[in-house]
Amino acid sequence: MLTHEDNELLTRVTGNAPMGQMMRRYWVPACLAEEVAEPDGTPVRTTILGERLVVFRDTDGTVAVIDERCPHRLASLALGRNEEGGIRCIYHGWKFNVAGTCVDMPTEPNEHGFRDRIKLKSYPTYEAGGMIWTYLGPEGSAPPFPLYDWMQLPRNQFATVKVGEITNYAQAIEGSIDSSHSWFLHQGILWDWKLRSQTSMDTSPKMEAQDTEYGFRYAAIRVPTNDPETTRYVRVTLFLVPFTAFIPRPMDRTKTAHVQIFVPIDDTRTMFYGIFFSQDGSPVDEAATRRTHHLVPGEDLDRNWFKLGTVENWFNQDREAMKNGDWTGIKGFTNQDMACQETMGPIVDRTQEHLGTSDIAIIRMRRRMLEAVTRFQNGDPLIGLDPSIDWSRVKSEQLIMPITQPWQSLGTPATQPA
Ligand code: FES
Ligand SMILES: [Fe+2]
Repeated sequence: MLTHEDNELLTRVTGNAPMGQMMRRYWVPACLAEEVAEPDGTPVRTTILGERLVVFRDTDGTVAVIDERCPHRLASLALGRNEEGGIRCIYHGWKFNVAGTCVDMPTEPNEHGFRDRIKLKSYPTYEAGGMIWTYLGPEGSAPPFPLYDWMQLPRNQFATVKVGEITNYAQAIEGSIDSSHSWFLHQGILWDWKLRSQTSMDTSPKMEAQDTEYGFRYAAIRVPTNDPETTRYVRVTLFLVPFTAFIPRPMDRTKTAHVQIFVPIDDTRTMFYGIFFSQDGSPVDEAATRRTHHLVPGEDLDRNWFKLGTVENWFNQDREAMKNGDWTGIKGFTNQDMACQETMGPIVDRTQEHLGTSDIAIIRMRRRMLEAVTRFQNGDPLIGLDPSIDWSRVKSEQLIMPITQPWQSLGTPATQPA
């Protein structure tokens, strides 16, 4: 459990809330690249940390993230015309380029110089991993972009999904790094039962966590079906401050590995970005991935990428299917996760919960995030922003290993020894 004060510190991300201000010091996904694929295409609305923004790609192909509100009288620039090197507000025609400079103000006489005094807020962007990223921190303070290994794959070797949910970001992360739920909640989808019984039937893994330069990693350690005397089945999940999880890579390298990013829209809504990437160089079918996960835009998701299963329709839970052997009656593991998370309430009251030994990663995430925000408040160096971190070395793991070998010996340190 957390005290009410710590829960507020952990979860509040809008306005002057310290956690949100800290998150602004990290690169954050603004939208999928496919949403703004076309030069002069439709501008995209996005809200991050409570700030309303517009993403657009101009005539030259440059992507911009700008304040949604036109500085004139605050109409949405997402309604605007994206043409000839900028976005023009449809209300009175003021026009802005990707840098936020007002390049035309047809309603005002030129000689007053009013146009030169108007500036629209514009943030730096970076395109990688099928996403448009932005940096919302103070101008000139952006850290190097974290180029994870999967971002360096050809575009046809990874698939993205995007889903909005009505829950605070921390709750969403807690679902992601909660190893013990998957064999219950997701049984029948994620798990090939034959493979599972060949690997391990241990439902109460021993959990151990270790702090790292980017956040922490933890191991779920299970007694394996074969060689239980001499080996352990170990799944190592990574949590990267402030909102990213690297899920253990399948031992079967023909299966895709998975990364999850939870971007706070505001205090009570989160945009989830998932990446499924190839481990063996084979192509990953994005449309098929979205179908498999019941996350097809227009079918399972509304036009703002929010899922159609909500508290109001009780996630379309199918009780008949449950009678016939389906565990949850909810289709797709993301929908299952989000149903559990949303029913906790938009910001779960962490003074009321009862955490057990399987919740070690959740406890560690909260502690690490509270440490991160305290560092921010004290002006100390932030977790995961050390420029010497080699992000291509940061990897999750899943394997059967000798009982005598500590799991902490897995992988290489993220930073090169000096
Ligand atoms: S509100 Fe945009 S030009 Fe007037
Ligand atoms: Fe899950």
